[in-house]
Amino acid sequence: MSELNLVLLGPPGSGKGTQGERLQEDFRLPYYATGDILRAAVRDGTELGTEAKGYMDRGDLVPDEVMVGLIVERVSREEAGDGFILDGFPRTTAQAEALDSKMSELDRSITAAILIDVSDDEVIRRLGGRRTCVKEGHIFHVEFDPPKNEGVCDICGARLEIRDDDKPEVIRKRLATYHEKTEPLVGYYDSRSVLRRIDGEQDPDAVEAEIRRTLSTLRLQDEAV
Ligand code: AP5
Repeated sequence: MSELNLVLLGPPGSGKGTQGERLQEDFRLPYYATGDILRAAVRDGTELGTEAKGYMDRGDLVPDEVMVGLIVERVSREEAGDGFILDGFPRTTAQAEALDSKMSELDRSITAAILIDVSDDEVIRRLGGRRTCVKEGHIFHVEFDPPKNEGVCDICGARLEIRDDDKPEVIRKRLATYHEKTEPLVGYYDSRSVLRRIDGEQDPDAVEAEIRRTLSTLRLQDEAV
């Protein structure tokens, strides 16, 4: 397959970040995670961070015009010439249409939208125990993926924290926002024949293996054409 332009879809806590990190290592492609980009902007106190923080803390979406500018510029970069992994974008139909229009302009298209399918109950269980590294955003879970030393990132040694938007009332709002604004993208990508559904309720290694199998099948289909 000449290029791999991937979109990771799924509710909050479905494992997009966990799998995105692994895919990035496997495929050596640039990984653009909008949540990480926005949290870094909040930490750095930039204009973007100041604008985004209120929306994020409430579990609302940051306006489309802000997000589209942020991502469309990245997929056009030279480093993304062989492909990219998008996590957290698109999240609305308007964002998906803006991405498609940029891709057409570049004479490219989305290879696959990978839906990591997880129930609301599982999301609530997972986000309650998530711990995130303050420096590089590495992800752990107190029960399902505990760090070797409590409160310390295995990878870079930074402190682990609970994200501001992982409070129970914000988690419920984020889920409602997902169902209302982002879930319609499942039909959007299905109608374009690029949706691939993955059972996200298996352990992380099994989820990764299923994604890899799916991408290998796509590659074989591409070679057969
Ligand atoms: P973002 O950071 O993208 O949040 P999200 O989509 O809600 O996703 P999460 O990061 O919460 O979860 P995840 O799916 O990555 O799961 P993870 O791998 O961490 O966005 C944050 C906010 O930014 C949004 O609410 C919005 O305000 C704004 N925003 C971002 N993009 C935007 C856009 N395009 N437009 C507008 N606004 C935007 O896993 C969760 C936990 O489960 C971890 O503890 C992990 O260790 C554990 N885990 C993972 N996989 C498994 C498994 N298979 N089994 C058991 N545990 C697992």
